[in-house]
Amino acid sequence: MQRARLIFQDGAELTVAVAPGQTLLEGALAADAPVRYDCCSGSCGSCVVQCLAGESVVDVTGKMPVNADELAEGLRPACLTRIKTDATFELPYSLHDAPSLPSKHSAQIVELRRGAPSVALLKLQLDRAEDFVFQPGQYVRLAAPGVGEARAYSIASTATDLPLLELMIRLVPNGTMSRWLQETAKVGDRVKLQAPLGSFGLDDRATRHVFVAGGTGLAPVLSMVRSLRGRGQPALLCFGCTRRQELFYEQELAALAASMPELEVRIAVMEGADIDLHSGTAVSLLRREDFDAATVCYLCGPPLMVDAARKALSAHGVATKAIRAERFQPGG
Ligand SMILES: Cc1cc2nc3c(=O)[nH]c(=O)nc-3n(C[C@H](O)[C@H](O)[C@H](O)COP(=O)(O)OP(=O)(O)OC[C@H]3O[C@@H](n4cnc5c(N)ncnc54)[C@H](O)[C@@H]3O)c2cc1C
Ligand code: FES
Repeated sequence: MQRARLIFQDGAELTVAVAPGQTLLEGALAADAPVRYDCCSGSCGSCVVQCLAGESVVDVTGKMPVNADELAEGLRPACLTRIKTDATFELPYSLHDAPSLPSKHSAQIVELRRGAPSVALLKLQLDRAEDFVFQPGQYVRLAAPGVGEARAYSIASTATDLPLLELMIRLVPNGTMSRWLQETAKVGDRVKLQAPLGSFGLDDRATRHVFVAGGTGLAPVLSMVRSLRGRGQPALLCFGCTRRQELFYEQELAALAASMPELEVRIAVMEGADIDLHSGTAVSLLRREDFDAATVCYLCGPPLMVDAARKALSAHGVATKAIRAERFQPGG
């Protein structure tokens, strides 16, 4: 039996026993530790923790929420990690001031529109919001009528918008939920949610924030940016879309930046840039002078974009512990 010491973002600590054959997540759950998880199979990334000491091995599966560089730097998906010695892990969220436990909710579609040809902007109204406490960066698992599988979608709105939840959804070819959104969904439809989920969120120890979002990876980042309002902490949002026609939320972001003097927004498209837009990816918008020792960087979007952003940040000298990431795995 090994012991795992869990250190939360607020400095609180718990030590749990992990039996031979158990994963770190199974050991923590057996001890009733309030750790975050969702899929238990390596695809959602909710359970990723930073190993600070000790030896562990990670089961390799088809889907991995971390890449080889991140594994080498000590990031560990707890649902796939088996510890070989007593070990210490840092969790990217606080023990206290926690969101509500994930549970089932019902909601109604109150708005459904296209932000771009392949982006659906969805507003849901929860039937009951009193017991729904989420943190910016978290996601919901959406189940639609007649659609067999639920899908993960990040919340773009903040707690002040409740009972409304805003989602930004990429419509992908042959996608199960994408097809429902395009062909069937309408205002007034009722949906079910499992929420809140996920551990992507602000690092409260940071005093400067850099966000890098690709496509609908904007959603969790937007919730975090919006929640910084009034804190007076400088924030930079680098947002990229593939083509000019696929760019969405441009005016809303301009309005947000105008209302938050501490926020700078940079937008890039890979094809069709005009005088108002940079040409390139969200990652190409980063400059070395964007970072100081108190900066934390948040990356969200398709796995390839997140990997590229992590490499770029590393080249700019940003430490691994100052980078948080969420990958929108297909079939998530
Ligand atoms: C934590 C999390 C948060 C997310 N948040 C958002 C969000 O805010 N906005 C957003 O747009 N998306 C988000 N996603 C992605 C989202 O959950 C769906 O995966 C995406 O919307 C596609 O769903 P779909 O049912 O339309 O397509 P699917 O039916 O899942 O299929 C999509 C395409 O991917 C292919 N595919 C499906 N499964 C796999 C697989 N295992 N490996 C390789 N290819 C596969 C299919 O062939 C198809 O072409 C998130 C994912 C995660 C894990
Ligand atoms: S719970 Fe471990 S990756 Fe989803």
